[in-house]
Amino acid sequence: MNSTNVQQEVPEVGLNVEELRTAIRHEYEVVALNPQQGFHFHTGRPLARMLGYPEEWLAGLPESCIASFAGTGNPFSMGMPRPGERVVDVGSGAGLDSLIAARMVSPAGQVVGVDMTPAMLEKARRGAVEIGLHNVSFRQGLAEALPVPDEWADVVTSNGVLNLMPDKSAALREMARVLKPGGRLQIGDILVQSPIPEDARSDISLWTG
Ligand SMILES: C[S@@+](CC[C@H](N)C(=O)[O-])C[C@H]1O[C@@H](n2cnc3c(N)ncnc32)[C@H](O)[C@@H]1O
Repeated sequence: MNSTNVQQEVPEVGLNVEELRTAIRHEYEVVALNPQQGFHFHTGRPLARMLGYPEEWLAGLPESCIASFAGTGNPFSMGMPRPGERVVDVGSGAGLDSLIAARMVSPAGQVVGVDMTPAMLEKARRGAVEIGLHNVSFRQGLAEALPVPDEWADVVTSNGVLNLMPDKSAALREMARVLKPGGRLQIGDILVQSPIPEDARSDISLWTG
């Protein structure tokens, strides 16, 4: 999939997808640049502890990346990437899960984090340099049009990102495309158990806040 066939409108609720993405980028730029501000969601080290990330995963990782962690689950609770494997982290944010995965697959494995928010990408890249990890890179892109070749990854992780996308099927198709046959999809996210009313789905402030 490329950016030309990424959905621009969600017709049934009249939501402009680019407008929504701009609002989401703005929200997560603040999480990157000013994580101590306080949000309607949990962040940082307290969140990682709450989600069951053991201290040894966080030890030695840049405090700046930990501070802007904003996941909603623990994708590694389904299993750890193994040494030598390739991992794609969809919506990698400040890079915490990507850095954890990069240490797990090291030295021969590789991790690619993809995110659409420049401030998050910059923070994640700086974090990798700070701790000397050379097997992880961060690419600007959309989950709905991943900048990753077909069947590249052994594992795809994503944490707290699908809930921000109106076209979840497009993102899931992309995750399936980049996975090798038999690859593992490990998603931490929010599930709703009843349909969201249309007026709520069309309200951008409810997507971001
Ligand atoms: C809740 S944060 C989670 C970040 C990271 N996974 C973590 O656990 O800290 C959501 C991230 O998803 C990114 N994002 C949201 N929608 C996206 C999309 N359609 N394509 C790529 N990135 C997206 C945002 O820029 C933000 O960095």
